[in-house]
Amino acid sequence: MKSLGKGFDPFQKTHKRDFLTVSDFTLVEITDLIDQAISLKKSQSGNDYAPLRGKGIGLIFEEISTRTRVSFEVAVYQLHGQPVFLTPTDIQLSRGETIADTARVLSRYLDGIVLRTYKHSRVEEFAEASTIPVINGLTDKHHPCQALADMMTIKEKKGRFKGVKLAYIGDGNNVANSLIEISSILGVEISIACPTGFEPDAEVIEKSRKINGSCINILHDPKEAAKDADVLYTDVWISMSEKGTQHDNKRAKFKGFQINDELIRLAKQDVIALHCLPAHRGEEITDSVMDGPHSAVFDLAENRLHTQKALLAKLIKNG
Ligand code: CP
Ligand code: NVA
Repeated sequence: MKSLGKGFDPFQKTHKRDFLTVSDFTLVEITDLIDQAISLKKSQSGNDYAPLRGKGIGLIFEEISTRTRVSFEVAVYQLHGQPVFLTPTDIQLSRGETIADTARVLSRYLDGIVLRTYKHSRVEEFAEASTIPVINGLTDKHHPCQALADMMTIKEKKGRFKGVKLAYIGDGNNVANSLIEISSILGVEISIACPTGFEPDAEVIEKSRKINGSCINILHDPKEAAKDADVLYTDVWISMSEKGTQHDNKRAKFKGFQINDELIRLAKQDVIALHCLPAHRGEEITDSVMDGPHSAVFDLAENRLHTQKALLAKLIKNG
């Protein structure tokens, strides 16, 4: 696993790169990564690309997952590395070992960590104490790996980023925050339609608005956002981090913030519908859209694998 090569000093902070939010990467890095993911997708069968040969990648999941967990495990395996999947109950985290001590110890064995957790400050704390690259596999505030796959799918379907009109209908959550960041960097025009009081993170919006050429509209009318859109996007009304909140009250406020046939008709003729999944069919999206001709939701789910392979290859250095 960890290669203790010439000059290795376990006490020295390395120049490791983390991926905790989309804005950890530049425009050039994101576009290169997406191009690399598209080319990895084309050369899937029988390739002997092995940037993770001899490397161990830890996957610590403090929240449940289907796509992120499985696509990362398979990505590491396909790049000839060894995934090590851990939940808090497998390790001493659940008995009070600190997040920083866990990060320090795992840095001695592994070459990279994917962490899915509830509070964003936890992944920051983990990355601060770790000497190996840390990838955010979702927090309450950001879902940057999802955003990479979202944009790969837009590139595949629309052939460009600049001037693409993306309408996100729903909760101003982690997925919306990362979409705002990546859209602003790539020149995608993003409109968010959410009920009042459920806007995306104010800091994310403010920071993203400072990026040259960014276009972010925060609206409260799904129809206004969907008009002439190239891409319609949604996510669940209730996120995993919202434990113990008044879900029925929240659901009532989101009635109408749904991607359905009416919104599809308002958008461009060749609009694509995206959802990060899992979907609550009948709430934020109808069956007719999920299973209809405009849906690209399962292509998007597949692209998590390809973008994460490109991400791992970029962050985990050989040698
Ligand atoms: N979209 C996404 O991150 O799905 P999972 O929660 O299944 O990983
Ligand atoms: N906003 C959702 C995304 C799931 C992939 C959540 O955090 O539960």
